[in-house]
Amino acid sequence: FKPVTTATLRKMKSDGTPITMVTAYDYPSAKLADEAGVDMILVGDSLGNVVLGYDSTLPVTLEDMIYHTRAVCRGAQRPFIVTDMPFMTYHGSLDLTLASVARLMREGGCKAVKLEGGREIADTVRAIVTAGVPVVGHIGLTPQSVHQIGGYRVQGKTANQAERLLEDALALEQAGAFAIVLELVTEDVARLVTSRLSIPTIGIGAGPGCDGQVLVFHDLLQYASPSVPKKMVKTYADIGSAIRNAISSYVDDVRERRFPGPEHSFRTEQREPAVLYG
Ligand code: KIV
Ligand code: NA
Repeated sequence: FKPVTTATLRKMKSDGTPITMVTAYDYPSAKLADEAGVDMILVGDSLGNVVLGYDSTLPVTLEDMIYHTRAVCRGAQRPFIVTDMPFMTYHGSLDLTLASVARLMREGGCKAVKLEGGREIADTVRAIVTAGVPVVGHIGLTPQSVHQIGGYRVQGKTANQAERLLEDALALEQAGAFAIVLELVTEDVARLVTSRLSIPTIGIGAGPGCDGQVLVFHDLLQYASPSVPKKMVKTYADIGSAIRNAISSYVDDVRERRFPGPEHSFRTEQREPAVLYG
């Protein structure tokens, strides 16, 4: 296999080949995503919700992102691995921002970082790109600003919002971002943005007009995902039920003394010592 690069992704956009992305947070999820042939893995700060059990992405730390990125990098070789910069790690001085990026790349091992925001972070994006780090933008519903937005709602419904989204996307492209995630954006705005950019758009809840799609691992698989089923998610398996049923069978077996059986147990071959066999 050839590892996916930013050049591969650029070519996929110009060829009209859909880009596939899924989140992963540890070795097994990354390994399975790689084996399934996904093009990009996002070590999303959604790990705050789906892996760590927080009710938002705000408590997620840089250390959390580094730790999970390392595990993902050990599990996946072909996909292009992008890590989210967590809440408030790219809004202070440029020095602090670049130090955070350096830790994610050097200690975590990701190939690119993703930042939430539009025009207001364009200068930051430019500085990171100038340092040689590929950047993915993220506009529309940006969960790190949930308290400012006032909830998880669809973006781009008014003409005003639509225009702002397009301007944000263009500003990010101008700043050097190599791709942009569009989250919870009306499908016509997503299609417009996609047609106006030369870099790929990757949608979640943004309709079929994007250059690629991303879903959260635990949502896609119903893997104890804490969120109520969302319209934007298609679930492809009910792994949560499979796991729950399996564990419950194990619990029953132990309680009913069906496990372990002779086939799972080991015997002492020697007829000594006497203490065992009298
Ligand atoms: O953290 C995440 O999983 C994300 C995706 C929803 C794009 O940012
Ligand atoms: Na995220």
